[in-house]
Amino acid sequence: MARLKLAVLVSGRGSNLQALIDACEAPGYPAEIALVIANVADAFGLARAERSGLPTRVIDHKGFSDRDAFDAALTRSIEESGAQLVCLAGFMRLLTAGFCERWRDRLINIHPSLLPAFKGLHTHERVLEAGVRITGCTVHFVRPTMDEGPIIAQAAVPVGSSDNAETLAARVLEQEHRLYPLAVRLIAEGRVTVHGERADITGADAPRGSLISPP
Ligand code: GRF
Repeated sequence: MARLKLAVLVSGRGSNLQALIDACEAPGYPAEIALVIANVADAFGLARAERSGLPTRVIDHKGFSDRDAFDAALTRSIEESGAQLVCLAGFMRLLTAGFCERWRDRLINIHPSLLPAFKGLHTHERVLEAGVRITGCTVHFVRPTMDEGPIIAQAAVPVGSSDNAETLAARVLEQEHRLYPLAVRLIAEGRVTVHGERADITGADAPRGSLISPP
């Protein structure tokens, strides 16, 4: 079966991109990366892509007069690459409603919290301030409002009493690297359908049991 073609958009470190690169290199994985786009010329994610021989493109938002023009350039590149699914992986630009509409239900993001809790930046600091005992990460379809949209998959991570934002971020990130390839696989296998603001998954249900924190 043909593999689903991905465009991955990054702004920085690109560790989630790396998780997708590694997944796509594994035999039998149902997706492949057609293009990596960065809006920042020295994003480390670009080096990761180049190292794996993947096509890259820098589209610097500073070279455009407004968000519509920038997003139109993104769309042109993605279309040229033949990508069927757009994966945001630490892409630090807000996308216009027009872009979200153009790629509706074919545009996904990973966020380091259990959405809809803790949308936005500085997630782990706010998780610690709020004193929640369990946090995690979410892969979701993108809607014009930041960190909103149908949820595809989530991973839960207990918050320890000695955690700080860095230790928590590191443990959540480990789960992000498992979760993003899993979510892309589910989509590539045609098992994810969107009904309005909900995504349904066929052939995979929640695991039994629970995570209690503290135990
Ligand atoms: C991740 O924590 C992701 O959830 C968030 O931005 C961070 C990107 O990290 N959207 P990386 O560039 O993938 O290493």
